[in-house]
Amino acid sequence: MKMFRVVCLLAFVSVLSPAAEALDNGLALKPTMGWLHWERFMCNIDCQRDPENCISERLYMQMADVMVKEGWKKAGYQYVCIDDCWPSHQRDAQGRLQADPKRFPSGIKKLADYVHSKGLKLGIYADVGKSTCAGYPGSLGYYETDAQTFADWGVDLLKFDGCYTDWTLLGEGYTNMSKALNKTRRSILYSCEWPLYEWPFRKPNYTAIRETCNHWRNFNDVYDSWSSVKSILEWTASHQDIIVPSAGPGGWNDPDMLVIGNFGLSHDQQESQMALWAIMAAPLLMSNDLRNICPRSKELLQNRRIIDISQDPLGKQGYRSAKVDSFEVWERPLSKNRLAVAVLNMQEIGGPRGFVIRAFPGWKICDPKCNVTQILPQYKEMGVQTQQSTLVIPVNPSGTALLTVTPISGDFTGIHKLHWENVSFKHKYIL
Ligand code: GLA
Repeated sequence: MKMFRVVCLLAFVSVLSPAAEALDNGLALKPTMGWLHWERFMCNIDCQRDPENCISERLYMQMADVMVKEGWKKAGYQYVCIDDCWPSHQRDAQGRLQADPKRFPSGIKKLADYVHSKGLKLGIYADVGKSTCAGYPGSLGYYETDAQTFADWGVDLLKFDGCYTDWTLLGEGYTNMSKALNKTRRSILYSCEWPLYEWPFRKPNYTAIRETCNHWRNFNDVYDSWSSVKSILEWTASHQDIIVPSAGPGGWNDPDMLVIGNFGLSHDQQESQMALWAIMAAPLLMSNDLRNICPRSKELLQNRRIIDISQDPLGKQGYRSAKVDSFEVWERPLSKNRLAVAVLNMQEIGGPRGFVIRAFPGWKICDPKCNVTQILPQYKEMGVQTQQSTLVIPVNPSGTALLTVTPISGDFTGIHKLHWENVSFKHKYIL
């Protein structure tokens, strides 16, 4: 009996906490939300011909303005992040990185002040090796100098890439930069690409990665296409036993940017990316043009119910729990014993197909009853269901139905309370 209790307690503790300690900088307790320039604006440095879209201080200032004006900040998006191609090709006389003087005439400190004045945070980009992926100066040999420069400028996040480095030095490089950032005593969120560059050679040590970084890229860069999003999902599912346990408050797997609002995804596919990124507890870093985005994409990216799943306080990453009849089911445990479920229709031919709701493993929480809410493709209360439910949910090709499932105990007061909360005010009044 005593032994049984100990086992139960251990099981309980391991359910509550991720496998390893997170980087102890108090940051990224929930998946980071913001905007990052790379996928949409890449290394466009031609400000003569394309002043609107080139990598310049203007781009980030405009993005910060829109983030405040158009409800992005209010929805939770906080970080405005610079990617590659911002610096000058030469360091200054003191060996410090400097922004390209033509494209950033006011300098990064002024830009950070501007972004902060809007109540937002600024992210910057550097590389653990000799040069960045696009050929700008790398930080190798300059970790402390660069960390201090970023801190002096008032930077709030560092994306640290892994190009042009010997893979055997990745661990040392990423760890030393983590220590250098910590030494500045400024809170700088640390976004790594360590495992992505290590996977071709060996299985990365996720315990060490979680102790070092606030999030980490595992797989290829996202492109503006459904095949790219699908490949990221497939990689994640096929490595979930290794990577899911390492995610939790303070440290997250990063499947790369949201490309919603661009050119390559249909609306159903955009819904799939949003739903699955929330299920994966992924950083929500949009790479799109917020100055010019279609209203449906905007509404999707600002959907409060999906963001609530992403930011759920339990901080557990979801996983693929079933593959049936060209459907994929992904489940994420949420706080208060709830479950988020995404049903993805992988069949890219024909019309909507019905998914029988009780056909996935997590449905067991519906014993004896549960309450089901559909969030995508549209918000709908599906009411109280039982283990034997015959509810069928239609899902469009390459689209996703996103649901939350709330268990209801056998106790009548619980059922009553849930019913009551789901009735609109008008009906409550009449009742
Ligand atoms: C790598 C990274 C991308 C981006 C580019 C910039 O490919 O994975 O996210 O930062 O470099 O050159």
